[in-house]
Amino acid sequence: MINILNINTIDGTKKNLQIASAQDHTIHAENLTLLPALTDPHVHFRIPGMDYKEDWRTAARASIAGGVTTVFDMPNTLPPTTTVALLQEKKKIIDAQLKEAGIPLHYQLFFGADKDHLAELSKIKHDAVGIKIFMGCSTGNLVVDSDETLSAIFEIAAAHDILVAVHAEDEHILNANKAKYQGEKDYAVHSKIRDTHAAVAAVEKAISLTRRFGTRLYILHMSTAEEVALIQQAKQQNLPVYAETTPHHLFLNTHSYATLAGKAVMNPPLRSEKDQTALFAAIRDNIIDTIGSDHAPHTLSEKEKPYGQCPSGVPGIETLLPLLLNAHQQGLLSLQNIVSLTSTRAREIFRLPANNDWVLVDLNKKMRVDEKKLKTKCAWSPYAGMELTGWPRYVVLGDKLFDLEKL
Ligand code: DOR
Ligand code: ZN
Repeated sequence: MINILNINTIDGTKKNLQIASAQDHTIHAENLTLLPALTDPHVHFRIPGMDYKEDWRTAARASIAGGVTTVFDMPNTLPPTTTVALLQEKKKIIDAQLKEAGIPLHYQLFFGADKDHLAELSKIKHDAVGIKIFMGCSTGNLVVDSDETLSAIFEIAAAHDILVAVHAEDEHILNANKAKYQGEKDYAVHSKIRDTHAAVAAVEKAISLTRRFGTRLYILHMSTAEEVALIQQAKQQNLPVYAETTPHHLFLNTHSYATLAGKAVMNPPLRSEKDQTALFAAIRDNIIDTIGSDHAPHTLSEKEKPYGQCPSGVPGIETLLPLLLNAHQQGLLSLQNIVSLTSTRAREIFRLPANNDWVLVDLNKKMRVDEKKLKTKCAWSPYAGMELTGWPRYVVLGDKLFDLEKL
């Protein structure tokens, strides 16, 4: 039996929690606060095909270290997850790796849309959490840039009540900008090539397809004030449109290229301080529903390559919760905002069953992000050295307790 005594709840009361478990443990939790464990709807755990960047053994430990017990993995693997058979194979590998790790992480998989496998889409309802569309190219080769194919996917998804998640950057605008800035070596050009206009055009197109077909639409990693305005409008019109943002778009901006160089390169790219402010306001106003870490590990040597060869993406699953708790400490977010963003809304939108997973956090613990302590295989963080107030201390995953100081 796990007994957690005198724990603080976010509504200001105290409670005891008893969890039926083979482990016997009593935690005196008067200095800790109870939150639902995090559901991270957006990770790239790199299996199959890119084990050298991450695998589910390292990623599961990184998840627990970050207070996360449910993840949704993206399909841009090698090969990409574009058939039911590949989805089933991927699940087998994941299950074996989680077993080896001794961490029964809850997970769901996104199915990758491409024009050559449309017939598969009607078969995935019970095996995938949704269909992912890359409207613009990113890591891997998955991209859907024709209006005809986009319409077909939205129509099939609506007919089968499958959610569509979009990486909303317009491929044609990205290509025009790439030509315009060709040869530019400064990493900061990334935010000019993948500009706000590219994101806005894609979000507008996706919302118009939802208006036409009624498809449930999830906008991944929303990063600009202009997209927030579009989502707000769609929600006011009662369209089934939901929005995610990321820690890097909340906590980093275009000034970060000067210190982080290639480590600041990701898609969508870093934006302005004005955009950061708009994202925080949109969370408080319930326009943004969820936060996804977009944990996208690449090796340090890959990220040190010059602009053009340096892959896009940052790790983030271990630092997501401390960054949010630190923002709470600074008065930017309430604990209710954090619970809604990291658990409640994702579980509603993706219709997940209730679980018995918790994270116990120490709201007053001050600690620097230490790359040496990270569990992710890539072993670096864009937040390295940053002092944050508010860290997870224990994680309950079903009937298992993880002491994060001993992980
Ligand atoms: O920065 C990114 N990295 N954006 C994506 O869309 C993909 C991801 C990755 O898989 O590396
Ligand atoms: Zn992603």
